[in-house]
Amino acid sequence: MTTAARPGVAHGVAAPGRAQVDARTLRTDRWWLPPAATTIGLAIFLVYGGVRAFQQQYFFADERYLTPFYSPCVSLGCAAEPGAAHFGMFIPDHPLIPYAALTLPFLLLFRLTCYYYRKAYYRSVWMAPAACSVPEPHGTYHGETRFPLILQNSHRYFFYLTLVISLINTYDAVVAFRHPADGFVVGVGNLVLLTNVALLWLYTISCHSCRHAMGGRLKHFSQHPVRYRLWTTISALNTRHHLFAWITLGTLILTDLYVMLVARGTITDLRLIG
Ligand code: FES
Repeated sequence: MTTAARPGVAHGVAAPGRAQVDARTLRTDRWWLPPAATTIGLAIFLVYGGVRAFQQQYFFADERYLTPFYSPCVSLGCAAEPGAAHFGMFIPDHPLIPYAALTLPFLLLFRLTCYYYRKAYYRSVWMAPAACSVPEPHGTYHGETRFPLILQNSHRYFFYLTLVISLINTYDAVVAFRHPADGFVVGVGNLVLLTNVALLWLYTISCHSCRHAMGGRLKHFSQHPVRYRLWTTISALNTRHHLFAWITLGTLILTDLYVMLVARGTITDLRLIG
């Protein structure tokens, strides 16, 4: 091992003054496991979500359960399940346009620009770097100071949009307690939708942008006791934001799967009340 620079290379671990090591890494443990697991987890969600968003079937069950992947159902195609269209139908019915095309792009961008997911896919997918003492394969590093990564700063705006979408999901979960023929009913599906929406709220309000909106730029907490209280609560949730990020990926899939299976008639929704 020497400290001589490799000729013609000026970046990263091969920059002048850095120790010259020919091996990609000297780590012998399974450092690749966490980034590989992260990549697989994100890929599963994207593939599942993509397939379901374009399937345009089995999105509404028992005349009251609407899967979050189709909320709000605003396509003209939602006419197949009239009870699913809580906010009208005005988007063209086309195989390449998801029924929830009004919200899905923003939800995707909200997650894509999320501080936690950025860390996750920068390290796992982009390998920048994949682990400590494992050099990244890229020759240059500009962080998020240039296009396109500077667009990650738009996260705060997607946060505000997602607040509205979370309200819509909450509305879906609440109206699901009313069956058109039977009135007020409670089934396992209601508990599934409620759990999903509660966890979505935890993920959304534990967002770093939410924390900043509550307590950022305040010079005197004592003059803003309500905001200070909210900021401390959100700060506590924020320490588990990564956890909520993963849990909600799982609950979104499970909730959609439940609605799909009931809609297909594969399983029957168990009525607890009504
Ligand atoms: Fe993750 Fe905002 S930081 S949703």
